[in-house]
Amino acid sequence: MADPQIGIYGLGTMGAALALNMADKGIDIAVSNRSAGPIAEFMTRAAPFAAHVTALGTLEELIAALPRPRLLLAMIPSTGPMDDFLAQVIPLLAEGDTVIDAGNADFHATRARSALLAEHGLHFVGLGVSGGEEGARHGPSMMFGGSEESWVGLQPILSRIAAQFDGAPCADRMGPDGAGHFVKTVHNGIEYADMQMIAEIYELLRHGAGLSPSEIGAQFARWNDGPLESYLFEITGTVLSYDDPLGEGPMVDAILDRAGQKGTGRWTAIEAVTLGQSATMIEGAVAARAWSAEKDLREVAGAALGADRAGFTPDFEELEAALLAARILEYAQGFRILAAASAEYGWQLDFARIAEIWRAGCIIRARLLDDISDAFRESPPEGQLFLAPRFAPVLDAGIPALRRLVSGGDCGGLPAAGARLGAGLLGHAAPATRHGGADTGAAGFLRPPRIRPGGWRGRAPRAVVGLSHVCGGVLAVLTSRPI
Ligand code: 6PG
Repeated sequence: MADPQIGIYGLGTMGAALALNMADKGIDIAVSNRSAGPIAEFMTRAAPFAAHVTALGTLEELIAALPRPRLLLAMIPSTGPMDDFLAQVIPLLAEGDTVIDAGNADFHATRARSALLAEHGLHFVGLGVSGGEEGARHGPSMMFGGSEESWVGLQPILSRIAAQFDGAPCADRMGPDGAGHFVKTVHNGIEYADMQMIAEIYELLRHGAGLSPSEIGAQFARWNDGPLESYLFEITGTVLSYDDPLGEGPMVDAILDRAGQKGTGRWTAIEAVTLGQSATMIEGAVAARAWSAEKDLREVAGAALGADRAGFTPDFEELEAALLAARILEYAQGFRILAAASAEYGWQLDFARIAEIWRAGCIIRARLLDDISDAFRESPPEGQLFLAPRFAPVLDAGIPALRRLVSGGDCGGLPAAGARLGAGLLGHAAPATRHGGADTGAAGFLRPPRIRPGGWRGRAPRAVVGLSHVCGGVLAVLTSRPI
């Protein structure tokens, strides 16, 4: 057997999937894990590619088996365990070796670890990997942050295991130290915002329009055939069509309405604020998850305050226009955070390239990313995505639709629409004006919604979540209102 090209330590879900992907592509690997069980389990799964896999019982043996300069990929929690791991491996490595953290990590920690390893003549790579287990196994999108030298060593491997778009790998070097993990963090922030948008439209259609989950799923499938095409819309269409195999009715009704979060969306919001940026759509999504987690309180508050909702007559074409505008705005917010970080840390991020490597493999892959990369290559005015001429007609049509949706949702007691979609518009008052809206930017939100015949009806918001969001929204309007 040839020398292993790379060592993988940590054979949990993601580590095993990446290792299998490599072995499957004919890359010779060595693997190990803190405990023996996962090694044996991995070797069973890797049986078809056994010729490419060397399993070793200890970290010391793994490191000794790697040719220099070594590439050692760790898929372990990027918090304390990563620091413990580094303390253990630094004395075992030699100058020029590279340690790769392929988990989601706080980029500040990645920067500190890069500096620490550099003191020992070692490279530290923060590698953002997106696509979940399936992506890691068959082709993820990968955002590399680290030295040029370590990129030269790792690039041939990443290019082979990455998702491909038009024959090109969805993996690239973002910049030094924490750049890769930061780009991955913002990717996840956008993911949070997109998922929140989906949840809010589901809420409108389910509880406002009274559609069944399978009807809503069918609508998502139809949207997914058009400009909103994306992985998240695709799986929403599929998920909503499932019935509960253990009970009666739609599967979605059997799932507890309590969302968790591992932290990447929160990090994005925190970093945005630290960088003086507005990430309102991502903040709205993080806040909605936090409210969602407080289910017991929501139940008590719903009973105490009432939770009446107005009816909603959907116009699917108008909703599509609104959703497309919202998606442009959420990406625009994400790229503005990236631009601010790039300037702050001297990374020189290539935004067109980032959009390109997000077109396949990752969770936020979407048809829109083709246009986004083109828009950046065309140098949009002020460097802003939302000012790109190619998006002007879409925003012209979408922003008034989004405005009606948000204001109607808030006043109809379907508050989720105000939480995220509203935040998006509030964060981008200027383009709303530029593209011909009748209102003067954010101030337009203070006007009462237009009530259309057969459209919104009912009472003011009653649910506590709604009150919170509406108050938050109004405060945001007041504070962002042009003086
Ligand atoms: C990906 C995903 C993946 C995961 C995050 C977010 O790109 O493959 O973003 O990293 O979804 O860990 O998890 P939470 O939504 O639970 O915070």
